[in-house]
Amino acid sequence: MSKTKPKYQTWIRINKLLIFLMISLLLLFTALLPVPLFLRIFSGVIALPFLYITFILSYSVYQFSAIGGNYQSKIHDLIVAESNTNGKGKILDIGTGSGSLIIKLAKAYPHTVLTGIDYWGGNWEYSKAQCQQNAEIEGVAERIIFLKASAAELPFKSRDFDGIVSCLTFHEVRDRQDKMEVIKEALRVLKPGGVFVFLDLFNDKKIFGDEKVIAQAFEEVLEWKQSPLAEEMKLPKLLLSRKVLGNAMILSGKK
Ligand SMILES: C[S@@+](CC[C@H](N)C(=O)[O-])C[C@H]1O[C@@H](n2cnc3c(N)ncnc32)[C@H](O)[C@@H]1O
Repeated sequence: MSKTKPKYQTWIRINKLLIFLMISLLLLFTALLPVPLFLRIFSGVIALPFLYITFILSYSVYQFSAIGGNYQSKIHDLIVAESNTNGKGKILDIGTGSGSLIIKLAKAYPHTVLTGIDYWGGNWEYSKAQCQQNAEIEGVAERIIFLKASAAELPFKSRDFDGIVSCLTFHEVRDRQDKMEVIKEALRVLKPGGVFVFLDLFNDKKIFGDEKVIAQAFEEVLEWKQSPLAEEMKLPKLLLSRKVLGNAMILSGKK
């Protein structure tokens, strides 16, 4: 890891991309081998969806990263702009990944203290050590605590935070089938009057249920609104594919 530059991976797992690339190449290679014709055609046809997914994933890595469209950072900027706790207080980032969002918050609001939690499972390429190193390089380490914990059971007392953010994490939580329970757990640790900004694939009804189910999770908050990400910022068309951010919405408000 570089000591001078922070390292923020994109939301696309490189391992996953490599698996799709290998399968695509294997199928294409089989289609070119001197094997029975039906096997060659079959391999060629099966290769198509794998090639498509490999392309979408590679394109997304490019657009999310700083060498491409830098959209991951731009989306984090959007969340930072909406999560102002009057520039002070305690802020929690649920599923902090490589610390990119929480570090932006720390820099934007220098009088806040922040906590980033994540379970940093082996299937992700992020780690607590990387978060800490990134925060040190960015000069905000003394105001951020990184903790290993699950979003399903937050190790905090109720009404502890002035602001809570979460980006593309709730849908990933495997230890709670009902994702609304995870959202309610986040709201539990927010102070009355505290602000929240949650970005996730809330429009995917298979994961989050319909509008009524979502509304129930927020029935005890003072005010909240939902807005498709595509209405909040201009995104390349391919990133709006259902496989990427097509279902992304921002739910924000005040408890
Ligand atoms: C798509 S990444 C987003 C990371 C970060 N929020 C960002 O915007 O860069 C999803 C994150 O959710 C975390 N995650 C998955 N399940 C979790 C759980 N049960 N509790 C806490 N974090 C979890 C993963 O480790 C990963 O860091």
